Amino acid sequence: MGTWGMLLHLTCLACWLDVSLQGEFQRKLYKDLMKNYSPLERPVSNDSHPLTVYFSLSLMQIMDVDEKNQVFTTNIWLQLYWNDFYLQWNASDYPGVKNVRFPDEQIWKPDVLLYNSADERFDATFHTNVLVNSTGYCQYIPPGIFKSTCYIDVRWFPFDVQRCDLKFGSWTYGGWSLDLQMLEADTSEYIPNGEWDLVGVQGRRNERFYECCEEPYPDVTFTVVMRRRTLYYGLNLLIPCVLISTLALLVFLLPADSGEKISLVCNVNIGILTFLKINLNIVTAASLRSHLWPQYFASTMIIVGLSVIVTVWVLQFHHHDPDGGKMPKWTRTILLNWCAWFLRMRRPGEEKVRSACHHSQQRGSVCSVELGANGGLAYLGTRGLEGARYGAAAEPGLGVAEEDLLLPGAHGVEHELAKILEEVRYISGRFRAQDEDGSICSEWKFAASVIDRLCLMAFSVFTILCTIGILMSAPNFVEAVSKDFT
Ligand SMILES: *[C@@H]1O[C@H](CO)[C@@H](O)[C@H](O)[C@H]1NC(C)=O
Ligand SMILES: *[C@@H]1O[C@H](CO)[C@@H](O)[C@H](O)[C@H]1NC(C)=O
Ligand SMILES: *[C@@H]1O[C@H](CO)[C@@H](O)[C@H](O)[C@H]1NC(C)=O
Repeated sequence: MGTWGMLLHLTCLACWLDVSLQGEFQRKLYKDLMKNYSPLERPVSNDSHPLTVYFSLSLMQIMDVDEKNQVFTTNIWLQLYWNDFYLQWNASDYPGVKNVRFPDEQIWKPDVLLYNSADERFDATFHTNVLVNSTGYCQYIPPGIFKSTCYIDVRWFPFDVQRCDLKFGSWTYGGWSLDLQMLEADTSEYIPNGEWDLVGVQGRRNERFYECCEEPYPDVTFTVVMRRRTLYYGLNLLIPCVLISTLALLVFLLPADSGEKISLVCNVNIGILTFLKINLNIVTAASLRSHLWPQYFASTMIIVGLSVIVTVWVLQFHHHDPDGGKMPKWTRTILLNWCAWFLRMRRPGEEKVRSACHHSQQRGSVCSVELGANGGLAYLGTRGLEGARYGAAAEPGLGVAEEDLLLPGAHGVEHELAKILEEVRYISGRFRAQDEDGSICSEWKFAASVIDRLCLMAFSVFTILCTIGILMSAPNFVEAVSKDFT
């Protein structure tokens, strides 16, 4: 064997020795520490002294907020720190051993549990090792998927903020033997959730006194505050609803003559029913218990439903049979006078007749014809004929032949005139009847357009008020919109 081989052998021996020495100290340390140790014993120097346990948690993830079962599921690492009086050693006596780990059940551990647990096993933590350093300082960080009971208030869905408490405390030790102290919660490792926006985790330490004893029972309660992200619900529920109610308003703008009014309103109606059917999947049972959303949806349904009724009414007015009679007095007063005045609407014929009359007063007798008085027309006719006769009489140079052409016979004239008058009366009577029908029709049509305009105004106001009133009543509406929609 060469020198090199010998050297290699020695080096290996040295390193084996080193390792064994290290192992030796660890084994010795475990043996020394466990010699008189009992995991049942509360590790304090004086049994009258309380053992201070510092407690905190780091929130890793919000996994589920179950509105139906009122269960809040989170992924959390608990953090417990305390000093174990019996697990101290002189570091220089055990070189290289900085800390030791103890598995479950080997050393004393505080029995801190989640009080409002909804887990099948109640304690959902994974029992990890406890890390102890030479001053007896113990670090215990058990992770777990915690299911906790939480009152989930869906009144303001989808603009809701939920506050879920996680109450931790020692199950058996009172405050005099185990003093639970809070450290701030850690959210630096938090993984964002798609549906919930974490607002913060607030912790507080409470002391509770029970009837049995004077001893306080401390607990540490962490409140997870989270806000529902509204964008998803906004896109799928709110915006379609707003659009549908806007469409329902457009129905009142559509002229009745187009003949499409009723089909538009029916389409809008079918639209909202289809929308409801599709969205039953999105709208969970819990959100149906919400105040806000069903209110808004119901108001949209009411608007659309009423618009059907009003449209039918308007069409009935618009296509009113002129033989059906005139408008009742009250309807006429309310609709054609008050409402029309209020809406600043003018009857289509009104302006024309008035301006025509203004012109005619300057021009002469045209207006009397237009006004259509029977006597007027007859008077005009007679005067015209008389004028012609007088004209002929005034100018004798014209001769008899012309007069004969105009007036065939003296006794026949009266008879012919009477016949013509009869005809004229008949014709004017027909025209008048037609005009009257026409004016009745236009009155009904005008009333229909007044109703249309009135409903457009009223429904617009109602829609805007509902939208603002219902949505704005959610406490964090502005915050939700500003954060999620921009
Ligand atoms: C333990 O603590 C109490 C009160 O602090 C004290 O009265 C008692 O003497 C202590 N006992 C020992 C053995 O130190
Ligand atoms: C630790 O051990 C070393 C050597 O055995 C000794 O000198 C020292 O005083 C001890 N320290 C304590 C705090 O006991
Ligand atoms: C043990 O850990 C605590 C907390 O981290 C620290 O303050 C203390 O100095 C540590 N002791 C040793 C010997 O490392």
